[in-house]
Amino acid sequence: MLTIAQITDLHITNGSRPKEHVRNAARLRIALKSVYAMKPKPAAILVTGDLIDTGTLEEYEELKQILSDCEIPLYYGLGNHDDRENFRKAFPGTPVDDNGFVQYAFMLGDLRVIMCDTLEGKEHGGFCEKRAAWLTKTLAEAPDTPTLLALHHPPIASGIVWMDEPADAPWKVRLGDVIRGRQQIKGIICGHMHRAFSGVFAGHLVQVSTATTIQLALDLSPIDLRVPDHRELLTERAPGFMLLVWDKGELVMHACPAGDFPAAVHYQVPFIKD
Ligand SMILES: [Fe+2]
Repeated sequence: MLTIAQITDLHITNGSRPKEHVRNAARLRIALKSVYAMKPKPAAILVTGDLIDTGTLEEYEELKQILSDCEIPLYYGLGNHDDRENFRKAFPGTPVDDNGFVQYAFMLGDLRVIMCDTLEGKEHGGFCEKRAAWLTKTLAEAPDTPTLLALHHPPIASGIVWMDEPADAPWKVRLGDVIRGRQQIKGIICGHMHRAFSGVFAGHLVQVSTATTIQLALDLSPIDLRVPDHRELLTERAPGFMLLVWDKGELVMHACPAGDFPAAVHYQVPFIKD
């Protein structure tokens, strides 16, 4: 059995924004503490974008500082709050493709992970022809190897319309064309939405992770994007992460709130008595 943690949407910032600086770092530390305490220890942590908040080198240095005592291998992807150039300066060991996009494939046990780069401007996702060609080639290299795709922007909608992108957004259509029918893909993991939900895209399971920073409120009522109605958009609910369990060719994904919670029941009586 192989376990893999996913953390996402860390939004680490620095002292120029004191409230977010303290809050986001504290929430990341709570999530990391819970990940580090997992038994068995995860084989890797996939960090699926919005690593920092405004894309500065100083923020990436702050993130490196927080993660400096991490004993689990870290694999990074980029989100819309990241800056590709500054990330590459701060994390020169992370692979990039021939065009400089932060996308790469690696093995965890017998599971292949492909980190994709959907950074395209400040908000919505992107997956240009060059990135799609790289993914097509990379999938073709190992058509029989079970594969997990990791990307920041979910290609599915949540129903929270102020955050969703249309189903016919060109990058979604392009991604769908690349992955449809690829039997080796066992699942797709994403971030960006700051809450956990799942759906199906191009015939594949998509699991979106909760954030380590603040969470998106679940409000599906109609919204007028020109008229603020004072609804709650984001909440201070507990930070969280995903725990992926890969066992004998099957993948399951657990959404995990992070923090210290009291035990409700302890194991004190044998389940099986001889
Ligand atoms: Fe985010």
